[in-house]
Amino acid sequence: MKEQLEAFLQQQCRQLKPSRVRDAMEYSLMGRGKRLRPMLLFAVLEGYGLNPKIGMAAAGALEMMHTYSLIHDDLPAMDNDDFRRGRKTCHRQFDEATAVLAGDGLLTLSFELAARSSEDPAKAVQIVSELAHAGGAEGMILGQTCDLAAENHPQMTLEQLRQIHLYKTGCLFTAPLVIGAILAGRSQDISLWRKTGSLMGLAFQIQDDILDVTQSSEQLGKSASDLDNHKATYVTLLGLGQAQDFMVDAYRQTRATLAAIDLDPAPVVAILDAMEFRQY
Ligand code: IPE
Ligand code: IPE
Ligand code: MG
Ligand code: MG
Ligand code: MG
Repeated sequence: MKEQLEAFLQQQCRQLKPSRVRDAMEYSLMGRGKRLRPMLLFAVLEGYGLNPKIGMAAAGALEMMHTYSLIHDDLPAMDNDDFRRGRKTCHRQFDEATAVLAGDGLLTLSFELAARSSEDPAKAVQIVSELAHAGGAEGMILGQTCDLAAENHPQMTLEQLRQIHLYKTGCLFTAPLVIGAILAGRSQDISLWRKTGSLMGLAFQIQDDILDVTQSSEQLGKSASDLDNHKATYVTLLGLGQAQDFMVDAYRQTRATLAAIDLDPAPVVAILDAMEFRQY
């Protein structure tokens, strides 16, 4: 499905009127991303016995929203990073104004795609709403503003940091799982998917914090800048060893919650395995 997703994303960009912002959107979107959020959506559909292809538009929407969050996260006003997805960040390759607009363009295009994510209008509306909430000021954006406010605050509590991680990362991991359940007509499973996605996002972000201090920027394909930015992370609060223990425990809890959902868990478990043992 990954190749089909890549082709779909490319096609969505090529359909736009030629412009500098179109080029910048395509540049960031088509970089070497792991595509975890779309693959999670496909895995949920497969676990429910459905053809994952029915989730293509929603998967594209999720990847566009995620890529917009990365473009803006890298801006000088935020994490001020030079590398992303194995190449220069959008504002380094183009310019800051174009990077702001490319983020805006991907965010708005994600809603166009979400609007046609299902032939059932009720489901499409629910998916648009889920995506908006996950990415919005009570979701990823809330996490990002708290992440910036927490810079230079090593005295923050672990619970405060956990909340930041749940919002800035957990929400965009929860969205594909919930959207999969919506497409499958399994609304009774949504609360368990929310719990699974939150734990998965927490585990993933603790691991991202660990990789930031243990891997080189070349290995990561992105700038490792948490120390320079005086970020509050699991590593700065707990040290590497304990951060690793928290990460392993969050993955264990993710798997336990997943096991309680009535579907074939194998496709989601395969992604979790790849995630937990990743090096970048
Ligand atoms: C990076 O996400 C941002 C975080 C939430 C840590 P990914 O590690 O999934 O980035 P890509 O999509 O593979 O580039
Ligand atoms: C940001 O977390 C997560 C987003 C919402 C984009 P990070 O700032 O740690 O992500 P990276 O390390 O730059 O990918
Ligand atoms: Mg950041
Ligand atoms: Mg960053
Ligand atoms: Mg990081």
